[in-house]
Amino acid sequence: MTNELSKAWDRYARTYARLGAPFTGYIAQSLFHTVAGRLPPAPRILEVACGNGELSRAAALHCLAEKTVGGQLGRVVATDFSAEMVGLAARNLSILGLDDIVRCEVHDGEALGFDAGSFDAVFSAFGIFLFPDRNAGWREAARVLRPGGLLATAVWRGSDENALARLQMAPIMAALPERVRASLPRPSWLDIASKDGLEREIASAGFADVEVSVFDAVLTVPTPGTMWEFMYENPVIQGVLARCTEAEISAIEESVLSSFKAKAGGPDRPLRFEASCHFAVARRI
Ligand SMILES: C[S@@+](CC[C@H](N)C(=O)[O-])C[C@H]1O[C@@H](n2cnc3c(N)ncnc32)[C@H](O)[C@@H]1O
Repeated sequence: MTNELSKAWDRYARTYARLGAPFTGYIAQSLFHTVAGRLPPAPRILEVACGNGELSRAAALHCLAEKTVGGQLGRVVATDFSAEMVGLAARNLSILGLDDIVRCEVHDGEALGFDAGSFDAVFSAFGIFLFPDRNAGWREAARVLRPGGLLATAVWRGSDENALARLQMAPIMAALPERVRASLPRPSWLDIASKDGLEREIASAGFADVEVSVFDAVLTVPTPGTMWEFMYENPVIQGVLARCTEAEISAIEESVLSSFKAKAGGPDRPLRFEASCHFAVARRI
């Protein structure tokens, strides 16, 4: 499928693979390892909104380890609605040489092209939480899981608990013209930024035994300019910048860079951001 949103992620794919995936990939792989011990033998695993496929890399290595000690062959399908992301994931995963275990396909997570009950586990790290119709994402995950199958997902916490979100957004909001600030809708994912909100939403989508835990990580970027490059092309930030004139975007860039330079201690110094997310794990009813 192709729409404006998937095209925006297509345009961001290379930058995301270079600057975002090494960091979110570490978190995504940790999400996988959190539940790996609960998977059945030869698991059928689906990753939704895989980006560069880092979670699927951990899943494929899990299946390889099982096969190596004489187990049966598990399978992993890495999916994303951005064809560019899927292409990069395929390239990233091909170096493992595990074509018999892992494959990459384009699928919209709001309308997956798989039969009901096809998977033992569905993972989505920072994927479904961003969907315009999030409930369609959870519903589809439940549909393609067998009864008793596992859902595991990672969702950012809000700015109060998550310095990464706070430090990125504060200099943007400070420089944003009042006209634009007043017109911005409240981001809908804030409904699931809290433990309670996330538990409630997943439980109401056909899951039981929802467990939510906190996972913290540190993002280190080489310079303030690199961080702005990473942020600037992000489709979510692009949605905000699209409402601004070129002069207004320059003022926002200046605000972000001066805030980051002050934090780093100079334009050529590395920056550290403390980040915090929730892992939710649940069983399909
Ligand atoms: C923040 S990235 C996360 C990527 C990866 N899971 C990670 O942790 O690095 C969000 C991903 O969601 C994908 N995405 C957004 N909406 C989607 C949808 N409706 N269906 C499938 N993928 C979607 C984007 O293309 C992008 O790859």
